[in-house]
Amino acid sequence: MPTYINIQCSTDGYPLQLSKLERLSNWLLKQCDVADHNVSIALTDDHHIRSLNNQYRQKDSPTNVLSFPFADGADQSTLSQIQVRELGDIVISLETAQRETLEFNQTFDHRLSWLLIHGLLHLLGYDHERSKNDEKIMLLKEQELLNKLNLKRGQQMAHLAINVDHIATIRQARGTTEPDPVAAASICELAGASGIVIHLREDRRHIQDRDVFLLRETIKSKMNLEMGANKEIIKIALEIQPDLITLVPEKRQELTTEGGLDIVTQKKKIAKTIDKMSKGIIPVSVFLDPDRDQIATASEIGATFVELHTGRYADARSEQDQQHEFMLLEDAAEYAVSLGLRVNAGHGLNYQNTARLAALETIEELSIGHAIIARAAFSGLDKAVRDMLHIVQTAKFTL
Ligand code: PXP
Repeated sequence: MPTYINIQCSTDGYPLQLSKLERLSNWLLKQCDVADHNVSIALTDDHHIRSLNNQYRQKDSPTNVLSFPFADGADQSTLSQIQVRELGDIVISLETAQRETLEFNQTFDHRLSWLLIHGLLHLLGYDHERSKNDEKIMLLKEQELLNKLNLKRGQQMAHLAINVDHIATIRQARGTTEPDPVAAASICELAGASGIVIHLREDRRHIQDRDVFLLRETIKSKMNLEMGANKEIIKIALEIQPDLITLVPEKRQELTTEGGLDIVTQKKKIAKTIDKMSKGIIPVSVFLDPDRDQIATASEIGATFVELHTGRYADARSEQDQQHEFMLLEDAAEYAVSLGLRVNAGHGLNYQNTARLAALETIEELSIGHAIIARAAFSGLDKAVRDMLHIVQTAKFTL
C-alpha cells in the first residue's frame, strides 16, 4: 500500500476515519501520477507539531501541516542513480485542524482533506511561499484536486460576496468622490463578507479604473471582477490579477446585467478569453442562465466556476413560478457540480429570497449587491451586511 498512516497522539474526540483518509491519499497519489510512490502521514497534536516547526523551520508555534520530502537536501545525482519511490512525510496536527474547522466553516473531514492535499503538493515540489506566482500555481492545483474530489459546499456554509457597484453609482450621480466603494468594501469585509465583487463596465458608469486598482491593493478577502469579454478590460484584468473574474454579457443600454451570457453561440470568443486568463492563472467564472447546454459548454471550454443567474427566480411573482425557477437553479447547480464545475449564484437576491438558495449544498457563494446597499441607506452598511450574512449562514440549519 502506498500510504502509511501513523498516529502520534490521542485521537479521542476527533471524527476520524482512517480508512477514508488512506483511500483519499491513495487516490491523490494516482491523480498526481505518483501512484507507484509511498507517502507517510503522521497525525499528531499541537505540542509535537510545534516542536517540529521550531526544529525545522525555526517557527516556535503550532501549525496545521508540515511536509518533509524524502531525502530533502540529499545529493540529487546520488539519488537519481537509485530508484526512489518515497515521497516523504506529511505531518498533520489534528488539534489545529479541529480549530480551523470553525475558522473556515468546514467539516473536520473537509479540513483534513484540504490539509492532506496541501501537504502532498508540497512533497511534489509545489511551494506557495516561494513567490506570488508559485502561490497561484499551487492554489490552482489544490483547487483542481478539490474539484475532482467534488468536495461540495454541503460540507461548509455558503459564502457571501458583496457587489459594491451601487456605492459607485451613487458617487457617479454627483461626480464627486463619495461615497467611496473602496471604503465600502472594507466595511463589508469587517462585517464578515467573504469577497468583494465589482463590475468594470466599458462605459465606466459606476466603477472607475481608479477603484479597480485601489481595491486590488486593499481587498483582504477575494476580489471578483465582473467584466465583458472585451479587449481593453481583459488587459486590465491581466494586469491586476483578480482572484476570480466573472464573464458577463454587457449591453450599454441595460440598467443592470440582464440574463446570463450565451456561451453556446459565443463559444470560440469565450474560450479564447478563458485561455488568456488561464495563462495569467486567473480562474474564470461564467454568468449563465440555469441551462444545461450552457453549463456543459462552460465545462468544455475550461471555466472553473459558473455563476447561476438568479434573476428570474428573484423576479417570479407567483409562488408557483418561483418554485419552477428554483428547481431549474437546483438542477443546474447539481449538473454543474457533476461536471466538476464550482457554482456561485446571484442577481436580484434579497433578504426574503436568499435563504432557499443559500441552503443548497451545491452553491458555494452568493453574490449580492442591490438589496444590501439599499438596506444600508437606512440601517448602515455594517448592519445590512451582517443581517444578510446571518440569513446565508443559518439557511442550511433552518430550512
Ligand atoms: N452577479 C452578477 C453577475 C451581476 O451582474 C450582479 C449585478 O451587478 C449581481 C450578481 C448582483 O446583483 P444584485 O445587485 O441584484 O444583487
